[in-house]
Amino acid sequence: MERKKSGITVWFTGLSGAGKTTISCLVEKELRLLEHKVELLDGDIVRQNLCKGLGFSKEDRDENIRRIGFVAHLLTRNDVIVLVSAISPYRETRNEVRQRIGNFVEVYVNSPLEICEERDMKGLYKKARDGEIKKFTGIDDPYEPPLNPEIECRTDKETIEESVFKVLGKLAEEGYLC
Ligand code: ADX
Repeated sequence: MERKKSGITVWFTGLSGAGKTTISCLVEKELRLLEHKVELLDGDIVRQNLCKGLGFSKEDRDENIRRIGFVAHLLTRNDVIVLVSAISPYRETRNEVRQRIGNFVEVYVNSPLEICEERDMKGLYKKARDGEIKKFTGIDDPYEPPLNPEIECRTDKETIEESVFKVLGKLAEEGYLC
């Protein structure tokens, strides 16, 4: 008998302040209501423990993503829906973890830099502009947008509910929510 699909990694990538954490938290909440096994790996939290000590050079960001990808892979193969929320600025590294994990959906949380900067939820863009923080993504460090993401959330144009619905809709369509 064919087994119902259950484990998958949903990888949210995008600039700081684009809305990755907001959307992934709401998706997590909905999945829990539906009684799915779900884990959220959020860059800010992961960097306080699993990736403590890593900085923001290309090397350290890649190491961060590979460690997150490693954990996401273990969970995914144990039937968990894993939500990853990390800037993950480098296309090649995202593709590398995609290959390793297999069941993988990429969500490009897309909002123009000007809007993210205007929101400046954590006050970090101002610090980056003032030169207090170096190598800040989008300011003086690169962000490589996905070329073919399974989902794109234009958070400057759509509501949070619409973005959440897109993600849940994709999971349903792919057979993960039955
Ligand atoms: S990633 O580039 O390695 O994927 P990650 O998502 O884990 O980044 O962490 C990004 C968070 O770290 C941002 O949301 C912000 O709060 C904080 N941060 C501190 N310094 C930087 C920086 N130079 N560039 C981007 N984010 C930074």
